[in-house]
Amino acid sequence: MAIAILDFGSQYSQLIARKVRECQVYCELFPWDAPAEKVLALNPGGFILSGGPSSVYDAGAPFIPDYVLESGTPVLGICYGMQALTYALGGRVAPAQRREYGPAQVQTTRPNPLLPPSGESFAVWMSHGDRIEGLPPGFEVLAASSNSPIAAMGNLEQRRYGVQFHPEVHHTPGGVELLRRFAVDICGQTPDWTPENIIAQAVERIRAQVGEERALVAVSGGVDSSVAAALVQRAIGERLAAVFVDNGLLRAGERLQVEQAFRRGLGPHLTVADEIETFFDNLQGVTEPEKKRRIIGETFIRIFESQARNLGQPRFLVQGTIYPDVVESSAPDRSQAQRIKTHHNVGGLPKDMNFELVEPLRYLFKDEVRLVGEALGLPAELVWRQPFPGPGLAVRCLGELTLERVERLRQADAIFTSELTAAGLLNLRMADQPGAIAQAFAVLLPVRSVGVMGDQRTYQEAVALRAVTTSDFMTADFARIPYELLGRVASRIVNEVKGVNRVVLDITSKPPATIEWE
Ligand code: XMP
Repeated sequence: MAIAILDFGSQYSQLIARKVRECQVYCELFPWDAPAEKVLALNPGGFILSGGPSSVYDAGAPFIPDYVLESGTPVLGICYGMQALTYALGGRVAPAQRREYGPAQVQTTRPNPLLPPSGESFAVWMSHGDRIEGLPPGFEVLAASSNSPIAAMGNLEQRRYGVQFHPEVHHTPGGVELLRRFAVDICGQTPDWTPENIIAQAVERIRAQVGEERALVAVSGGVDSSVAAALVQRAIGERLAAVFVDNGLLRAGERLQVEQAFRRGLGPHLTVADEIETFFDNLQGVTEPEKKRRIIGETFIRIFESQARNLGQPRFLVQGTIYPDVVESSAPDRSQAQRIKTHHNVGGLPKDMNFELVEPLRYLFKDEVRLVGEALGLPAELVWRQPFPGPGLAVRCLGELTLERVERLRQADAIFTSELTAAGLLNLRMADQPGAIAQAFAVLLPVRSVGVMGDQRTYQEAVALRAVTTSDFMTADFARIPYELLGRVASRIVNEVKGVNRVVLDITSKPPATIEWE
């Protein structure tokens, strides 16, 4: 039971997969030219063809592989996918007079199982240059807008459909419902991709892989490694050992939270390695961001190796790799933004370590990881935690890292995030909503400025506040936080945190800035 999505290069391809999964139907995303055997091994009950930046008549433009149309399974082409379908089946695609981009109202013109009832008008998001000018034989127009006479088309008998708009994006409110009708009603898939089933399948797979051997997991306090650990724990119980390295670069209360969560949920096998001194010794005098990252990565690896030796060198290593990592590393011509991510894998383990990998989250999106975490009984503050970089506070404490400066940052950060949380503005369950804060933190600047406190001149460091809205962390905008709250945070920070006499707000978007400062 699955849907195969062929990726023609749209920035929304992963979103299609996420939305289909939201309908509790399992699906996988493949590059459009993936080997047929690989795609067919999934035994797909339907194909979705994504959008893409090309024009079907471009030299080297992606096309629909033969096996898709030969399979006789239902097909849904989205935007470029619709154009590619039209082209492949003998219809005509042409450049539109002008690019259509933005919201549009579309009306169903003929009853069909994909769209809302006939005559009904619904809001969609358009983003296309080319459009369909001649339907392929056997197809009919299913919906139209004032700008797109063929906003949707279909061959109901062959169960082949195309939509010019993007059902996967937030701005198409009925989009998930449309995808559900395609996957469930048209392709006949059973919506059984629920957290309980995901867990049951994962447990079975882990048991089959690990057998009677032992496994090791490095937990970072992040969602992915925690959920991966909990799943493997469910599968092999005591034969899993968890290691948590306290590098002194954690947020306020983080170590305690992780310890408690693991003691409660995962049994007593969490080893906490207190390595604060080691990290700060190694980082002494280092100010260059990339050098910080490298040193932290290397230090982590050495500690982990020695922990593994202490734990009798288990054969398996659990990693919290999630589906977007897998998809991105198999899509060769993704944007620069995505490649920048390689350096994010600080804290990752070297390839030459003698472990076999267990990756129980390999096919899950972040939101699914969270649902699985909740279903496994992990505490909400762990499951719904905002992303935190592998090198931790090191990349937010600009300049040299000292225990004192990192502590200063930690306190300022705790004030900022707790005020946001108290005001209901940092609710990660809602982070997907437009305008909601997805990540918020403080940055300590190695800049001193003059201030006055109780008649005394001060000459102290500054803190920058960073809060962003984003859906994918590839692009981001600064969050519009009420002035009232900003004022309170600023006054609390300068009053409560020793060594800080000024607070500034970061209002740059990404790009051109990045979310983290280093
Ligand atoms: P940037 O700063 O590149 O951050 O806009 C995008 C997202 O990635 C996180 N980030 C990291 N995550 N290791 C990680 O695991 C890293 O080295 C790292 N650097 C940035 C960042 O917090 C944001 O969510």
